[in-house]
Amino acid sequence: MCVIERTPVIETRRLALRAPEPRDAARLSELASDYDVAKMTLRMPHPYQVADGLAFVEAVQAQDPRRAATFVIDHEDGGPIGVIGLFEDADPAPEVGYWIGRPFWGRGLATEALEGALVWARKAWKRRALTAGHFTDNPASGRVLEKAGFLYTGEVRRGFSKARGDWTRTRRMVWLA
Ligand SMILES: CC(C)(COP(=O)(O)OP(=O)(O)OC[C@H]1O[C@@H](n2cnc3c(N)ncnc32)[C@H](O)[C@@H]1OP(=O)(O)O)[C@@H](O)C(=O)NCCC(=O)NCCS
Repeated sequence: MCVIERTPVIETRRLALRAPEPRDAARLSELASDYDVAKMTLRMPHPYQVADGLAFVEAVQAQDPRRAATFVIDHEDGGPIGVIGLFEDADPAPEVGYWIGRPFWGRGLATEALEGALVWARKAWKRRALTAGHFTDNPASGRVLEKAGFLYTGEVRRGFSKARGDWTRTRRMVWLA
């Protein structure tokens, strides 16, 4: 039987990926209230209030660890800087999504967090494949996924972005363990 820890901690060179706690809500909502972060995701609201951060933490605590794993990305100097989550949806393989607060962009931190999560997904969560998608106007995220080993499937999917209040086009990608 495969036993999944409810709150695994994944350590990388500069980061620890760990379970979100209520005390993270204020800091995460401060970083997430940037429209340029929320608009690149399907589910984040804008504006993003502390109550949204608390609701997020509660939703993660209620997740079934066999079907989803969501981590706060904790930087060795900066504290909580973003979120990365893996979850089963309608696709045959789970999907990964992430965001990093603007003050921490451009330092390879999303790539480092994603690579750490991939090692965990393969070794502890025993997954053989993951999917991801980025909006067509978000090449930076495509680059993060490519650097971590994801490949484009060629599929472009429509999705409704809550923050934009509009439909988007998502380039789908896949990673094989
Ligand atoms: C996208 C995001 C996760 C990138 O985080 P990050 O920590 O800056 O990412 P990294 O530093 O690991 O890598 C970014 C890469 O994108 C590249 N990049 C940045 N802007 C780019 C652009 N406009 N076009 C193409 N590539 C770009 C960088 O040069 C870097 O690639 P390189 O190492 O080959 O030079 C971050 O900007 C973010 O959270 N954005 C808002 C939310 C979001 O987009 N989430 C993902 C949804 S799919």
